[in-house]
Amino acid sequence: MRTALPSLLLLNFLFATVAYGDDSQGDPRLDYMLQCQGCHGADGGERPSAGVPTLVDLVPRFLGSDEGREFVLRVPGVSQAPLSNEALASLMNWLLETYRSSEAAPQFTRYRASEVARARELGPFDVTATRARLLADER
Ligand code: HEC
Repeated sequence: MRTALPSLLLLNFLFATVAYGDDSQGDPRLDYMLQCQGCHGADGGERPSAGVPTLVDLVPRFLGSDEGREFVLRVPGVSQAPLSNEALASLMNWLLETYRSSEAAPQFTRYRASEVARARELGPFDVTATRARLLADER
């Protein structure tokens, strides 16, 4: 966290000063800024007062199981983002690689558009209970 986040913030800042195109879909950084950053912030850090969990280190927390993989796609902010399945898969892969506390890139199977499409078809679910179970399973 200490090493990765400051450079992330700088990147976001630089990027914000350069480009705000109409057709941002498919540029993960821009899509994050437009569709996620309002709630999750530029650093993706936890915002406890708003009930917003951290997006840092999602791979070790959730990507170890099929259900966790699916959970990350199914949370409303993700599944209902106004992005194509392709753009959302790119955004999630970018997010999982970028928002991490360790120097080493996390190992995970990249999301594909077809997996996003399947998760979106599953519809609403109990986010809080599923999240609690997944995080308990991890230990
Ligand atoms: C309107 C505010 C809002 C927006 C916009 C939003 N989120 Fe979220 N996000 C939340 C909240 C609140 C949670 C906690 C779970 C819940 O209540 O849905 C969450 C949970 C998550 C989680 C699960 C993390 C965990 O530990 O449970 C991920 C992953 C995530 N968001 C990614 C994104 C991405 C990627 C985008 C943009 C495409 C996005 N969110 C847009 C508010 C938002």
